[in-house]
Amino acid sequence: MTGQIGDDKIHEVRERMDIVELVSGYVSLKRSGANHMGLCPFHSEKSPSFSVNAGRQFFHCFGCGVGGDVFAFLMKMEGLSFPDAVRRLAERVGIELEERRLSPEEQRFREERDRLFRVNEIAAGYFHRLLMEDRAGEPARQYLKQRGYGRKAAAEYQIGFASEGWEGLTRYLEAEGVNPQDARTLGLIRPGKEGRGDYDLFRRRLIFPIVNLAGRVVAFGGRVLDDSKPKYINSPESPIYHKGNVLFGLFQARQAMRQAGEAILVEGYFDQLALNRSGFINAVATCGTALTAEHAALLKRYVQRVLLLFDQDAAGRKATFKAMEALQSEGVPTAVVDLAAGEDPDSFLQREGADLFRQRMEQARPAMELFLEETLAEAGGSVEGKARAAEAVVAMLAQLPSELEQDLYLKALAVQTGIALELLQQKLNLARDRVRSAERKSSRRVAERSNVQPDYPSPEIPLPEMPEEEPASITETPQQPSWGKAEEQLFSLLMLVPEARDLIRTQGVTEYFQSEQAQAIASQLLEMPAGITEGEEDACLMLLPEEVQQRLRPLLKVDREAFADNYERQLQDCRRAAAREKLQRRKAELRELIARADGDDKIELMQEFTRLKKQLN
Ligand code: UTP
Ligand code: MN
Repeated sequence: MTGQIGDDKIHEVRERMDIVELVSGYVSLKRSGANHMGLCPFHSEKSPSFSVNAGRQFFHCFGCGVGGDVFAFLMKMEGLSFPDAVRRLAERVGIELEERRLSPEEQRFREERDRLFRVNEIAAGYFHRLLMEDRAGEPARQYLKQRGYGRKAAAEYQIGFASEGWEGLTRYLEAEGVNPQDARTLGLIRPGKEGRGDYDLFRRRLIFPIVNLAGRVVAFGGRVLDDSKPKYINSPESPIYHKGNVLFGLFQARQAMRQAGEAILVEGYFDQLALNRSGFINAVATCGTALTAEHAALLKRYVQRVLLLFDQDAAGRKATFKAMEALQSEGVPTAVVDLAAGEDPDSFLQREGADLFRQRMEQARPAMELFLEETLAEAGGSVEGKARAAEAVVAMLAQLPSELEQDLYLKALAVQTGIALELLQQKLNLARDRVRSAERKSSRRVAERSNVQPDYPSPEIPLPEMPEEEPASITETPQQPSWGKAEEQLFSLLMLVPEARDLIRTQGVTEYFQSEQAQAIASQLLEMPAGITEGEEDACLMLLPEEVQQRLRPLLKVDREAFADNYERQLQDCRRAAAREKLQRRKAELRELIARADGDDKIELMQEFTRLKKQLN
């Protein structure tokens, strides 16, 4: 069951669950006065600064500053949403949550999902037994052994084997009473041509189950035991599997990732295994895809930095910079570990051993530094080449969240290309605006796309209407700072009415302005001295970039008296409009999230969507 959880229930769960007991499941605690102390699970430390107060039922880390109640702890520890944390603890302390009944559609969706998980579990068990116990599994055991893995690794990852024949799994699932349609949905079996029966997808392959954060099998990857092609086949996407948001090994690695504050990202299943075996237990692998924005967001929940350790070939390099881009858009810095040409982490560890590997890890270099270097090297010495390279680097730099870093790289670029820094700076400013307007457009496109095909099941959610257009005055030309009528009015108020400045200052610019750019300009305008007189505003604008000044100057030409007269009313309107726009944005975002989410997450998102819709009407 899922739905709204009442406040009283939340209270009850919080009362009933003892925080010391909860934390003790993860951290070894020692009593010290009124508190219990231990090593913080959220950052890495040598002496304990993590304290749990049984009286207040609160935890706090003096090292990294995190703190909160039982729910906060579990959310952070397990990467759960608040309602999920409540559910988990409610179950643990035996409190029944009477939640809203599911709609028939939600109910059907949930039942299908539960069935699919069960089918995968049955299949995983079947494959695993074949590998561990069956005579048919001998070639696979040999193969694993030859790659240096024994029963321990096989058990930890529940590795399996799909045997030679065409119908082993098909028959087994049948005998287990599994509905063949479910197995087809998962891609485990496929209908034969011309009325012939179903047949197995995986044959004579080593099987890696791919599990989600709850430890449930969502898909499989299967490797051949020889050199035949394709080397790997993977389960297709299904209602419980979206390869763009699953990382192989995350279930095993997440605790270590959080401790280290760092993840090692690799390409292959065997790379993840090899790292894990050599003691680098914070490694995860993408499942045969490029790193997506969702992957990046997922990693961000656990770590502050990602080490990219892709294959040392051209494709791996490309994937590296793509991952860098995705992660830096999430504000997660990346560094690249260089091995030797043609190696992957698995082969490197085999050949060179863990010590040398660790050395290489310590020599990891910021991915952007490498990007700069390699882009310039590829471009060669020609004028055109350098110019093109500079464009590419600037475009990438524009996405860096830190302006300080942007500045440093820009200086390096200027030195290495001989291009004037001022010129590069201008280009960077333009590119930054482009990034922002692209972000805006993509959220609009997303909204439109899901408008055409809302592929999530719920009759309770009516077809989403077209998203409101942004104000007409928004300019799409990238050189121009972009904002709407409401922002223009606010800028006028900021420049002309000192009382309005005071009000906005107390309430905060984020209450009024959505884009970072507009917020930054507003903050600048707030610095205007209170006593400036008519005509002096212009001089105060000088601190802003030229193109911003040009847009702001006309806004000074309004009837100042009339404007000042009802500034409070105007501010209130603008603030309401901003709040609405924020909800609107969240709604568009939800549409996209819903299309890609599954399970409880999906249902929760759908509920939030419905709530938001009501609120907006
Ligand atoms: P690699 O070809 O680098 O394989 O593919 P690997 O992981 O090093 O495997 P070994 O060491 O040769 O056994 C990297 C990853 O790309 C995906 C798989 O997820 C693989 O682990 N892949 C590769 C596929 O999905 N299909 C393929 O045919 C090949
Ligand atoms: Mn390999």
